[in-house]
Amino acid sequence: MDVNLDVSGKLTALQVMQDSPVIPVIVLTDINQAVLLARALVAGGIRMLEVTLRTPQALACIEAIARDVPDAVVGAGTVRSALDVHACAMAGARFLVSPGYTHAVAQAGRDAGLPLLPGVTTGSEIMMAQEDGLSQLKFFPAMQAGGAAMLKAWGGPFGDVRFCPTGGVTAANAAEFLALPNVECVGGSWLTPPDVLARGNWAQVTALAFQACRLPR
Ligand code: 3PG
Repeated sequence: MDVNLDVSGKLTALQVMQDSPVIPVIVLTDINQAVLLARALVAGGIRMLEVTLRTPQALACIEAIARDVPDAVVGAGTVRSALDVHACAMAGARFLVSPGYTHAVAQAGRDAGLPLLPGVTTGSEIMMAQEDGLSQLKFFPAMQAGGAAMLKAWGGPFGDVRFCPTGGVTAANAAEFLALPNVECVGGSWLTPPDVLARGNWAQVTALAFQACRLPR
């Protein structure tokens, strides 16, 4: 964790990426778990939290974390439309992550004043994002779309772009990605296994976060 980062101010995409080696990708179905989970991750050293818009409870969970966990910086994942962007901004999300790239989502993020990490898998999408002024991108789905070898290849033509590979990244392969010069952090769901959440084993979540923070980069 970058203790010098003032998380109360306006964030940049690079600050979101650089705070810890891993951004947890979170799926919440129970609003009662949101604050407890966020506190457990923060206790383990991770405060940039991506809550995905994949459940009807997601926006309420974002709202609860934004309100009740001041040490967390809650963001929204699975943002797919300008409407999603508005809803997330209203709920208190501080950053946005999308699974793909559209100009409309990029524009909505800019209008809302929120940093966006948009997902890309091709050179064309990287070029579109850069045309819109975005050079901090999510590589998704990372393992399925070419893994570390793809990022190495992109390091040539897109040497000014920084990536957060997500999708199939685990505790076992995260270090391989983090060793690449164009990777700032990785994203993944392994810090929040559904069975651990179901049992309310927050100590286990804190332990997983603690281990993730110690990944070299
Ligand atoms: C996702 O969108 O589900 C994320 O990329 C997480 O993928 P993972 O479960 O493979 O970490």
